[in-house]
Parts: sequence; structure tokens; C-alpha cells
Amino acid sequence: MSNARAPVLGHFGAAIAGLTSIRAYGAEDAFKEESLNRIDRYTKSARMFYNLNRWICIRIDLIGAAFSAGLAAYLVYGRGIQEASNIGFSLNMAVGFSSMILWWVRVLNEVEVSGNSLERIDSYIKIEQEPKPTEGGQPPAYWPASGDLRVENLSARYSTDGPKVLQDLSFQIKSGERVGIVGRTGSGKSSLTLSLLRCISTEGSVYYDGIPTSAINLDALRSNVTIIPQIPELLSGTLRQNLDPFDQHDDAVLYDALRSAGLFSVQDEFEEARLTLDSAIASGGGNLSVGQRQILALARAIVRGSKLLILDEATSAIDYKTDSAIQSSLRNELHNVTQIIVAHRLQTIIDADKIIVLDAGKLVEFGSPWELLQNEKGMLRALVDESGDKDALYAAAHGKPVAEGESL
Ligand SMILES: Nc1ncnc2c1ncn2[C@@H]1O[C@H](COP(=O)(O)OP(=O)(O)OP(=O)(O)O)[C@@H](O)[C@H]1O
Ligand SMILES: [Mg+2]
Repeated sequence: MSNARAPVLGHFGAAIAGLTSIRAYGAEDAFKEESLNRIDRYTKSARMFYNLNRWICIRIDLIGAAFSAGLAAYLVYGRGIQEASNIGFSLNMAVGFSSMILWWVRVLNEVEVSGNSLERIDSYIKIEQEPKPTEGGQPPAYWPASGDLRVENLSARYSTDGPKVLQDLSFQIKSGERVGIVGRTGSGKSSLTLSLLRCISTEGSVYYDGIPTSAINLDALRSNVTIIPQIPELLSGTLRQNLDPFDQHDDAVLYDALRSAGLFSVQDEFEEARLTLDSAIASGGGNLSVGQRQILALARAIVRGSKLLILDEATSAIDYKTDSAIQSSLRNELHNVTQIIVAHRLQTIIDADKIIVLDAGKLVEFGSPWELLQNEKGMLRALVDESGDKDALYAAAHGKPVAEGESL
């Protein structure tokens, strides 16, 4: 019965969540039918359950009545002299006893049905879990003093028997450097950012400010690295709560972060629908555009002030002009913060200090953009040559504008 109940509730919840789509496509009937089918399945077992209950009720009552009647006959006729009070007391207890049996049967049954929840909790407990924090994994208080990152022979896979999505990466990023990561779709850029945070299983070592990340507690590691994932997540509440959930900063800091993240360059000060710290955010950021969500995620990362900031396509949904404003404010305001920037749009990262090119999980190029562009057969050069605004990219990589018609 409890196995049949979950699908009913699940289907109902899904239908409510997708109500607008169901109405728009006129799919009410299909949903109604599916819902009725599931209810039927539940009703079958529920009907059975209550019928059995009734079956046992009648049997137990009959047996109980026979037992009390037998006892009464025995007490009245079997033994000679008996006091009325004793007989009354015994009969009363006997009647109580038979209803007690029924009650016990019911309770045992209830326990068994509710045991389903225990089973569920048990299987959740048995899921493989990340290591718990330990005393020895506590990093020293000064850590991280710099955003220095050294990666040695890093390989990663999503499951123990899955394929290696990263293969033997080794590189070093000095504190305060801006490093771009490029590569084709599926080349392992997001996987690299996840493996720096030990979100997937890794081999090899990552040293963050001199300490191997495998030796420190996960909460210490993750609270000292800020990552903006490919799909930013916001919480329902006000914008202020999203930027600063623990109320640690004052409004001036939050406004500064919003400015650096480019919010004020995409909205007018007197616009009616402009976002302020008191704007309400729907759950998951549903009432904002994807670009606005990315800007808020970026502002949140700036407020946190970690030494290592990882942006995974954090500005992919933001127009080019705003993106370059954001990139320049990141460059100018986060001086000693190491930034790792994953981007498909080459303009975003072409003026970075170093560029990592990934291909099928392998590091194929690592160096300053201008250096990499010198290599005629290089991947970065191929990517740049493929793109529409090749000349502007070369110019940006070189750090000076290229005159019209000048060959590279
Ligand atoms: N959750 C996952 N479970 C198993 N394999 C995964 C998972 N996520 C990604 N992969 C695999 O890892 C490889 C690298 O994926 P990754 O997400 O790192 O690519 P990416 O370079 O970030 O691509 P994109 O530019 O599309 O974001 C892919 O081959 C993919 O099949
Ligand atoms: Mg990705």
C-alpha cells in the first residue's frame, strides 16, 4: 500500500508544478487518466487492506466472545462457591483481553507499514558519503594566505569504474593570476573545476597555498574557494539575503560588489523594474533573466572574498559589452585573487595571464595567450582563427591594438 501511494503523490506534485504547460498543450486528459490509473492501483491495495482488517476484526471478536462465554460458563458452573465480585472482575478482564489482541494486531500491522520510511532512511544512510571533517584536517588559521595553486598529475573520474575525464594534468598558477580555460564542449573544463573542489573522485595532487587539498577537511576547502557554476543557483528571499546570507557585511560592501559584477551597467538608475538589495528573488532565481542571475552569482562571489575564484562560464549569458566591463572590473578590483575562468567566448579570456587548453581531458597547451598564438599548429590558434573577430582577438592577446590591414 505504501509502495502504491508514493506514485500518486509524485504524479500529483509533478502535475501541479507543470500546470501551465499541461494547460497550454491541452494535456489535461492524459494527466487525469494517468492520475486515475495510479489512484486505482493504490485503491486496490487500500481496499484489500481495509477488507482484511474487517475480516480479522470479525474473527477476533468471535473468538473473543467464545473465550469470554466459555470462561463465564466455567466460572458459573465449573467451580462451586464463587463470589460475584470475583466473577465480574474476571469476566471484565477477559473481554478487555480479547479487544486487546485486536489492538495488538493492528499496531503490529501499522509498524510494518511505517517501517517503509525506516527502510528509506536506512538506504540513504548507506549511500557512499564524503569523508567527515577530522581534527587533523583543520588547516592553519592563516591559510590560505595566497591563491597559489599547483596541480600535479591530476586525473579525475565521475565514478570509480567510469572513464577518466581528466588525464594527468600538471600546471601551476601563481597567486593573483588570471587563467583562462578553453576547450571544446565535453573536453573536461567543468570537470577540472569540480576536481579542484574535490567534488568528484580524483587521483594525483592539488596544492592550494602549499597544502594538499586531499589533506584538509572538505568544508574548510570549499569555504575558501569560490566557484560560480555553469548554472547559477539563487535562493528565495531578498537580493540582500542572497548576497550575504549570514548578515556579515553592510550595504556599502554589497553595492560595491554589485557594481563590480556589472549590475549597474545593465540597468538604469531610474528604471522601474531595476534590482535593488530589497528586490524579492523567487526560488531558484526564477524571476530573473539568466544573465541577471549570473551577475548576482558573481557579486556573491566577490562579497565572499576568497583567494581563489573559479568562474565556469559565469558570463556566458551576458552581452559582450557588459561582459568586458565585468572582466575589466574583475581584473582591477581582485588584485591578489587567483581567477580561473572557463569561457567559450574567446574575448572573455584572451587577455588573461595564462591560458590552459584542454582537449579530451588532456592539457594540450598552457602559456600566455600571445605565446600560444605563435604556434602555427596550436589549438588556441586554431580556435582563434575559426572565430569571426580574429583580428580583435590577436590584438587583445598582444596587448596593443593592431592597425587596419597590418598582418599578424
Ligand atoms: N555527471 C557526470 N557523470 C559522468 N560523466 C560526466 C558527468 N558530467 C560530465 N561527464 C563527462 O565528462 C566529460 C567532460 O565534461 P565536462 O562537463 O567537464 O565538459 P566541459 O568541458 O565543461 O563542456 P561544456 O563546454 O559543454 O561545459 C564529458 O565527456 C562528459 O561525458
Ligand atoms: Mg562545462
